[in-house]
Amino acid sequence: MTEVLAIRSDFERFDEWVEAFRESDLELVRWEDLKEGQAIDYVLVWQPNPGMFDQHPEIKIIFSIGAGVDHMSGKNILPEGVPVVRMVETNLTLGMTEYVVYQVLRHHRFMPHYEQFQRDRSWKEIMQVPASRRNVGIMGMGVLGTACAQALMPFGFHLFGWSRSEKHIEGIKHYHGPEQLHAMLSHCDFLVCLLPNTRETRHILCKEHLVHLPRHAVLINAGRGSLLVEDDLLSLLENDHLSAAVLDVFEEEPLPVDSPLWNHPAITVTPHIASMTVPETSAEHIWTNIKLYRLGHPLTHVADMKRGY
Ligand code: NAP
Ligand code: GLV
Repeated sequence: MTEVLAIRSDFERFDEWVEAFRESDLELVRWEDLKEGQAIDYVLVWQPNPGMFDQHPEIKIIFSIGAGVDHMSGKNILPEGVPVVRMVETNLTLGMTEYVVYQVLRHHRFMPHYEQFQRDRSWKEIMQVPASRRNVGIMGMGVLGTACAQALMPFGFHLFGWSRSEKHIEGIKHYHGPEQLHAMLSHCDFLVCLLPNTRETRHILCKEHLVHLPRHAVLINAGRGSLLVEDDLLSLLENDHLSAAVLDVFEEEPLPVDSPLWNHPAITVTPHIASMTVPETSAEHIWTNIKLYRLGHPLTHVADMKRGY
């Protein structure tokens, strides 16, 4: 019997998903078009609501459209014991890599200053700093953090990483655990945050930790908005401890129109677009896992929902 993959996405990309799965033997159905009592085998979803799966105890795997699964971890959202596979796919990784490299280079080469000079018709030069005199640190050396660090390597930056567990990655000085966080921060002219939102990481970008950055550091947060204490950021920018921030994610999204972050001169705001899942390349990740499941083999990139990522 043909197996069914039900898709519930915030973006209307159903036709793209159908095209992406053309090589599979699955039947794709929009979640909204499911008939009363229709059985499904797999579901692909971004933001499930409580009770969404109540009528579907038969689901075998839940695939997250995003790399993060924090929005699925609320009470009564997920059925017990069903594996949740998070999104790991080429274009999601490349998109984040482009965003992080672009934002690091943009600040490394003083582009926000030059954009202002141009608006002012002012011919001013700032002495260039070689990349070999800059340190870039990444909090969260998972799939995305590691790819970003590796993409920054050829420019000659000194690279630092921080994760929960110990790692040895060529060319990167790696720190791990809460007791090594301040030591890692003390190096970072640029701090890129690509942590997931969990009980342990919530508000980790707070004054208590960020004061350990060198003066005039730049913060780039593309992990989750809940990692950052926005008031602490504003006060660290106010007293020049930080020189700039790039924020792609916010505690409240969309960012409220009256937020002071919107028109702060040292803050770049982007609307959670650092990277997006692309159906064409994601289908391979999902289809591979479904084939592994059918063979009774372990799945890849299963989220540990107790740990939160
Ligand atoms: P991942 O592979 O699971 O990596 C997560 C990393 O965070 C791991 O290195 C992990 O350490 C580390 N970590 C988790 N909890 C920690 C803690 N308490 N202390 C120190 N390190 C901790 O995830 P990913 O695929 O790289 O994605 C990371 C996050 O990026 C997602 O969860 C999502 O929030 C965000 N994201 C944002 C966008 C966007 O457009 N803005 C797009 C995609 C993803 P270990 O390696 O030791 O486990
Ligand atoms: C986007 O934020 C994701 O988690 O993939």
